[in-house]
Amino acid sequence: MVPKSYYIKTIGCQMNIYDSERMAMGLALMGCEPAPYPEEADLIIVNTCTIRFKAEHKAFSFLGRLSGLKRKKPDLILGVGGCVAQQEAEKILSRSPFVDLVFGTYRVDRLPEMVKRVAFGQRPLIDVSPVEQAGAFGLMEGARAGGRAACFVTIMQGCDNFCSYCVVPYVRGRERSRGQENILKEIQSLVDSGVREITLLGQNVNSYGKKERAGSFPQLLSRVNEIDGLERLRFTTSHPRDLSDELIESFGMLEKLCNHIHLPVQSGSDRILRAMHRQYSRRQYLERLKKLRYILPDIAVTTDIIVGFPGETRGDFEETLDLVGHADFDGLFAFTYSDRSAAPAVRLPGKISEKEKNERLQKLLALQEQINTDKNQAMIGSTVCILVEGFSKKQHAGCGLLDSAPACRMEWSGRTTTNKVVNFVCEDPTVDPNKSLTGGMVQVKIEKAFSHSLWGRLVRIESRASDSKGERNYAA
Ligand code: 5AD
Ligand code: SF4
Repeated sequence: MVPKSYYIKTIGCQMNIYDSERMAMGLALMGCEPAPYPEEADLIIVNTCTIRFKAEHKAFSFLGRLSGLKRKKPDLILGVGGCVAQQEAEKILSRSPFVDLVFGTYRVDRLPEMVKRVAFGQRPLIDVSPVEQAGAFGLMEGARAGGRAACFVTIMQGCDNFCSYCVVPYVRGRERSRGQENILKEIQSLVDSGVREITLLGQNVNSYGKKERAGSFPQLLSRVNEIDGLERLRFTTSHPRDLSDELIESFGMLEKLCNHIHLPVQSGSDRILRAMHRQYSRRQYLERLKKLRYILPDIAVTTDIIVGFPGETRGDFEETLDLVGHADFDGLFAFTYSDRSAAPAVRLPGKISEKEKNERLQKLLALQEQINTDKNQAMIGSTVCILVEGFSKKQHAGCGLLDSAPACRMEWSGRTTTNKVVNFVCEDPTVDPNKSLTGGMVQVKIEKAFSHSLWGRLVRIESRASDSKGERNYAA
């Protein structure tokens, strides 16, 4: 029987969130509806990630938990997609023999067809061939927005950088860019369905279009900036080596481009950067930062750092701490190095113990935590413009369950142009509680600061999601 409902479990990065949305779109076209819990679905897809050991481990433990469900519901179709599927189809089937479908990262667009084949008895079905379909960058029309204010749009796949610790080039393949017209059409349809912020996605967006001569990344940004009705534009990720002057200058020129860049540095030691094959030095990285801040003084910069790369001495790690102390990052994602069998660093000598890696991680996180807290404290008393994305995770600001004052007392959540999360309450009695603030641009006065978020009160609604395009007020 062809499934009527599906549940997708997404593990890992933004690329996977996007792929899961593509899967959901395909399933919707075959009449399959989303289920709120795995227990209620006829089809469960686990979209896996293999970038670090922990992500892969999470996929296998989630699959383990599904075995009981499969015993109770033998007709349930269980599919595994994403990077672990691409690389470890055999391992998945030997550890979880109840899996019906294993499909690779190149096969996302063929999911409905594969699900139908499984439903008609062809199981287990495995398709991990690394050959792109003609429709690999198939259009995803606006329906996927589902009332959201912000969405991702992939502009390229794969990576040619071959950083020595990274598995991406082996599981996602060589870099390939999507045509500009196709990208613009997708963004337009998302904007028409109410989306106000777009994040362009790629492993290394600054190489966009180089191979295909599809136009440069800054050119693409300036075309997206022209889209009427779009309020905010972001992108991720940019490789520091390729961060061109032209791209840096876009921050000064394009009014919709948000004041934030994610620029992974990975290490503060030149010796380790060389071993990682990052192709820039600490000095070059800091020069790029300086230029960015010269063009846009209040730009927020976030980064990724790996601690405990093979051969990383205490001295190398001290250099990373020193860089973090000086770079004034607005946020940092730190990871302990984990061996990935396809990546060359697996063969490097000088592996660091888990204990030492974890100690370094804690030290690094504590340093950045302090920097975040200081930076956020300095924002108390200021008024910031935010795009409302929905209710905050906490939702009710101590008001109990909605009692007599519905939406006005709820806690909403959104982000500043610098990508800081702001939760806020709206106590204005003139605000219609039945009209959602999601998708609106609002001014919030900051009253409290934490290390990873800010809290405040609504001062003014600049625009509502439903406002006509002409009346929209752009982020300060
Ligand atoms: N071990 C630890 N962290 C890794 N990353 C990528 N590969 C590894 C690995 N083998 C981190 C990098 C990258 C982020 C997405 O994941 O910091 O920027
Ligand atoms: Fe991996 Fe390096 Fe490519 Fe990023 S740039 S995806 S870390 S190989």
